[in-house]
Amino acid sequence: MDPNETVLVGCIGGSGLYHLDNLTFVKKLHIKTPWGEPSSPITISKLPSGALIAFISRHGPAHTITPTEVPGRANIAALKHIGVQAIVAFSAVGSLREEIAPGDFVMPSQIIDRTKGIREDTFFRGEGVVVHSMFGDPFSNKLIDLIAPLVENVLEGKERAPKLHTGKTVVCMEGPAFSTRAESTMYRQWGGDIINMSVIPEAKLAREAEIDYALICTSTDYDAWRVGEAPVTVEEVIKTLHTNAEYARLVAEGLLQQVHDAVAGGKLDEIKGCMRFACVTRKD
Ligand code: ADE
Repeated sequence: MDPNETVLVGCIGGSGLYHLDNLTFVKKLHIKTPWGEPSSPITISKLPSGALIAFISRHGPAHTITPTEVPGRANIAALKHIGVQAIVAFSAVGSLREEIAPGDFVMPSQIIDRTKGIREDTFFRGEGVVVHSMFGDPFSNKLIDLIAPLVENVLEGKERAPKLHTGKTVVCMEGPAFSTRAESTMYRQWGGDIINMSVIPEAKLAREAEIDYALICTSTDYDAWRVGEAPVTVEEVIKTLHTNAEYARLVAEGLLQQVHDAVAGGKLDEIKGCMRFACVTRKD
């Protein structure tokens, strides 16, 4: 990349969100990282102001990559390599709460990790160093505070009037099978509000890369906890995905300029430098 063309903001699209619309296409980057190739080429687009945005499709452009197989380290490393300092990621989720209806948007502030330890979730394993990143607040609170009102603005007055829920807890499960009814009920008892298969290790790797990271979720179903209702099926998820994706695209396009401005203006200052004291290995 030309250093004058640094891309400060990245967007990771989840199920149903395989590209952004209404931005000026600039180029596609095919980046190889020490951790392999990202899930998709990185699409660089221009906002009307000239600001550049990077987009990766998490499951590949034709949705061929399972949540377990997403090359999280390559995705985050490739975005870091081109200068990205803030990532707005999207994900389809199941709802564990009556009040979070299919079609609603959710920006979680906490994560319960129920992946099975088979995903590469750190850049440091096997590197001869012991590194513990801070992860008590797994998302960038400043980024959430900036984005949430913008998301609400975009959704306001839309036909289905989807709600935005903030301050929620996302359970990240391994998959690929959906949860049993007993698991779904247990996650509710644990305090989970929504469930997906993708936020881990993405959020952990973004933290290690000192990139501000926030997740915008679109609810597609009520998972399996509702007594007397059929548990979630792929058919149900896909049906809601298509309408959600249209709104998700509008949401993304409605906030990228402000995120770019916040990064350029040094307003997101919580995460940069957070790894300074994370390594416990002695240097001698
Ligand atoms: N993604 C969308 N719906 C989901 C569900 N019910 N469980 C896990 N991931 C999901």
